[in-house]
Amino acid sequence: MRKIVLAGNWKMYKTQAEALEFLQGFVNHLDETPEEREIILCVPFTTLGNLSKNMHGSRLRLGAQNVHWEDAGAYTGEISGPMLTELGVRYVIVGHSERRQFFGETDETVNRRLKAAQKHGLTPILCVGETKQQRDGWETETHIIGQLEKDLVDVDQNNLIIAYEPIWAIGTGDTCEAKEANRVIGLIRQQLSNADVPIQYGGSVKPDNIDEIMAQPEIDGVLVGGASLEPAGFARIVNYK
Ligand code: 13P
Repeated sequence: MRKIVLAGNWKMYKTQAEALEFLQGFVNHLDETPEEREIILCVPFTTLGNLSKNMHGSRLRLGAQNVHWEDAGAYTGEISGPMLTELGVRYVIVGHSERRQFFGETDETVNRRLKAAQKHGLTPILCVGETKQQRDGWETETHIIGQLEKDLVDVDQNNLIIAYEPIWAIGTGDTCEAKEANRVIGLIRQQLSNADVPIQYGGSVKPDNIDEIMAQPEIDGVLVGGASLEPAGFARIVNYK
């Protein structure tokens, strides 16, 4: 049985005070959420400690948005696995397209970060996806297969989540059609040695398209940016029908 995983990626949004306000407006909605759904908030590093304390006892799980491959060292601006696990973090996004695009993340560094996350017992959420140019040039499949081949070298597929995030659909309101996302996710699954790896869709997921997305047989969950910032909207997403 593949797990259903619904995650918010807050990106560089929310101070500690704003995060606590979100939590107060959100947790009660989880009473309606079916047991088998895993609900994760991937928040900025500065918010992890405080949220962790305040989430204690709830079914919400905490995720970070990056992790370094070394346990410690002279890597200004980076965060290591032990620093995250100490705070009760269980998940970490690795290889988000914004990291690849703006911060020089490569398939090689993504691979190192994935292995480091697993070494510390974190479950990485690996993001893959094509640009608009690649899609228009019929390169979607080869690009994604290439990313998976490089990113997953020596990565344990028993402790892994993958998010298919077409870059052209991120933050644009231009969602990938549910059927097309389903097709690409099916293709991703064919590349894996473990067919039970949960594979999410991400890119302009909203309360009004979640039901259709989650009705697709290959799609095991979503990674939500903008719509995870507002409690009622994200609650509607995790309580999809
Ligand atoms: P949006 O939901 O804002 O399009 O962002 C998607 C995303 O990048 C999640 O990681």
